[in-house]
Amino acid sequence: MTSEQFTDSTVTAMVEAAIAAVKASADTTVLERLRVQYLGKNGLVTAQLKRIGQLPGAERRAFGQVVNRAKEVIQAGIERRLEWLTAQQLDQQLLEDSVDISLPGRTMPPGTLHPITRTLRRIETIFSRLGFQVADGPEIEDEYHNFEALNIPRHHPARAMHDTFYVAKNVLLRTHTSPVQIRYMHSHEPPLYIIAPGKVYRCDSDVTHTPMFHQIEGLVVDRDISFADLKGVLVYFLREFFEQNDLKVKFRPSYFPFTEPSAEVDMGCVFCYGEGCRVCGHTGWIEILGCGMVHPEVFRHAHVDHGKYTGYAFGMGVERLTMLRYGVGDLRLFFENDLDFLSQFK
Ligand code: DAH
Repeated sequence: MTSEQFTDSTVTAMVEAAIAAVKASADTTVLERLRVQYLGKNGLVTAQLKRIGQLPGAERRAFGQVVNRAKEVIQAGIERRLEWLTAQQLDQQLLEDSVDISLPGRTMPPGTLHPITRTLRRIETIFSRLGFQVADGPEIEDEYHNFEALNIPRHHPARAMHDTFYVAKNVLLRTHTSPVQIRYMHSHEPPLYIIAPGKVYRCDSDVTHTPMFHQIEGLVVDRDISFADLKGVLVYFLREFFEQNDLKVKFRPSYFPFTEPSAEVDMGCVFCYGEGCRVCGHTGWIEILGCGMVHPEVFRHAHVDHGKYTGYAFGMGVERLTMLRYGVGDLRLFFENDLDFLSQFK
């Protein structure tokens, strides 16, 4: 385009200078500056246009054409350069942003099951081998299922021991998994062989208590169920769970409103094998669960014919079982989500 012949040498020189500068412009900012310099309101081309009026009438037309042609050439040059610079910029950007697909990816370390989940699964596996089903119940309960039907009437002292979180009148966070017994007996006919794992809540928080923890409830209702069945199942369970075939287990008379007779179960300390250590308070024994024969009053609430059926129940703390199995000394570790702690349970 610079070869275009312009009749006025000033205009020709201007166009040549403009096109050379446009071609040399390294980026769009420089280019924009050139556009203003030549085509802007006070630009060089505009100045030539203004000259037209001062020319003698006969020359105006020809010069006007020359300047307008010059304007078109410069404009076209700028546009072409702009396109080229923009494409160039895009190429550059694509080059810089490009992904090296040959680099190895960032790997995500595989997660591990929470120790409490591991214990729950382990307990479920052991009991399912004995023919137990896993049952479930709501964490938000009513007083009837959490207390009343379990033979803990309104002014029973056992209620005070439960440090209950109330949600509303008669509505509470279950303080134990025992209410699942009642719900299950209401909805199923004996024979019943269930365990009910889950979260329970008590308004209690210190080194050995957290406001939420886990329990596993057990319930068996069938013909001719005796305390001997209860003993056999629990001793088997504890020996399997702790992988100690000769684990000592003893049943100590106790009291729960929903069982009669009731017992607490102690086992030989899994750390010192009965020698006496810090964990067992130097007694050689560790208290591990509560149990007993289902109380007739509970059967009455649950509409189970006590003339036909007998049963047993038990309840245990999952955190406690986990601490004993893995040698974890502090209950709070289970709830702090410390990955260094949790990743040890592979
Ligand atoms: N519900 C009891 C508690 O939270 C545990 C328990 C004891 C459950 C004896 C039972 C049982 O079923 O028979 O402390």
